[in-house]
Parts: sequence; C-alpha cells; structure tokens
Amino acid sequence: MSGFFITFEGPDGGGKTTQVELLTEHLKQQGFQVICTREPGGTEVGNAIRSLLLDPAYTINSRTEALLYMAARAEHVEQVIRPALVQGKIVISDRFADSTFVYQGAARKLSKTEIVAINHFATQGLLPDITVVLDGTVEALLGRMQNRGNRDRIEQEDIEFHRKVRQGFLDLAATEPQRVKVVSACEPVQTVHRNVLNLIQTGMTERCR
Ligand SMILES: Nc1ncnc2c1ncn2[C@@H]1O[C@H](COP(=O)(O)OP(=O)(O)OP(=O)(O)O)[C@@H](O)[C@H]1O
Ligand SMILES: [Mg+2]
Repeated sequence: MSGFFITFEGPDGGGKTTQVELLTEHLKQQGFQVICTREPGGTEVGNAIRSLLLDPAYTINSRTEALLYMAARAEHVEQVIRPALVQGKIVISDRFADSTFVYQGAARKLSKTEIVAINHFATQGLLPDITVVLDGTVEALLGRMQNRGNRDRIEQEDIEFHRKVRQGFLDLAATEPQRVKVVSACEPVQTVHRNVLNLIQTGMTERCR
C-alpha cells in the first residue's frame, strides 16, 4: 500500500479535531491528496453506529460498546481507509483502533488481549504509519469542554475514568514509541500544529527512504 495513514488520539478535548483540520489543510496546500475522516463514523453505517454510541440516553454494556466500535471500524477500513491508501492518498483519522484499546481496555477494563484480537478482526491488521497522541492533564482538557453544549455519553464519565484514559494513551506510547508520538496539547493551537507537522514530516521522510 503506497499511501500514508495518520491517526490522532488522546483524551477528550485534547484538540484532535482542531489539529486534524489544520494538518489536512496544510498537506492539501502542499499538493497532497488527503482524506480526512473520523471514528466512530466515516461511513453512513459508521455514523449511524456513532449516534447510538454517543447518545447519553443509552446505557451500553462494555462488550456491546466495544463491538459497536469494531463494527463501525470494519466498515470504515473497508469502505474508506484502505481504498484511499491503495490510491496513494494520505488518510488522517480523528481516532482509530487505539481509542478502543485505551477506552475499553484500560478504562473499562476489558481484556486487552481480547481487544487487540477484535481490533485485528475489524482492521484486518491495518495499522497507522504514525499516531499522534494529544496529551494534557484531565483538568485542563475537560475545562475546555465546559464551553461546549451537551456532553456525550463518554464525556459524561467521571474524572477517574478520564485519568485512566490519559494514562492508557501514555502507556501505549511507551509500548510503541516508533509509531505512537505524544504531543503536549497544552500549548497554543499553532504551536501544537508546528510540533505535529515536525513529527509528520519526519515520519513521511523516513517512510520514503
Ligand atoms: N491548543 C489549544 N489550546 C486551547 N484550546 C484549544 C486548543 N486546541 C483546541 N482547543 C479548544 O478546545 C476545545 C476542544 O478541541 P477539539 O474539539 O479540537 O478537541 P477534540 O480532541 O477533538 O475533542 P473531542 O474528544 O471531544 O472530539 C475546543 O473548544 C477548541 O477550540
Ligand atoms: Mg473531536
């Protein structure tokens, strides 16, 4: 596969959506063909599953939740990500498989081995070339969400849950330092953008060697 697959991960409110947009714009201006997408979602079926997953009206069992994420992901990989990579495009996804590993594995305490296995089933082994984790203290990141309207089902979890999520991403980065890069989310937006760009440029250059 000749494209380049970038994912943004991290706790809620880290600035993923903000940075995905800035990076997409930058790479397009450089002349790259870029597909910008998100999870859960990215396809019609995926977006229908997203509404189910994020609706605070539902109480969803952890296993059901994990499988719903996987169902959306399988569709996303098959319909959107793989075809774009085959065509040589850059794919940037706002969250991907690492989120399920961390939210359902580290925070909800499902078996990490089982999550890795079902993730593999959903992605057919597709891994990002580079994953940017936007990291910051839970207090700082959740503070940013206050001026947002209604909080979704996951955002409504207690502070301990969000702490486990943050630690889960940091542990993942320590386990896979080659692929997973941590960037401080607590700098001004443009500084974070520059730091992200440096990582992506290095990653793309290494890939071309
Ligand atoms: N570096 C930054 N400094 C201060 N505020 C920021 C920064 N980056 C983003 N924000 C603001 O923080 C809020 C959350 O940003 P954004 O929606 O991009 O985060 P997210 O990681 O996509 O959140 P979610 O997990 O809910 O999707 C927004 O109001 C955004 O404008
Ligand atoms: Mg977002």
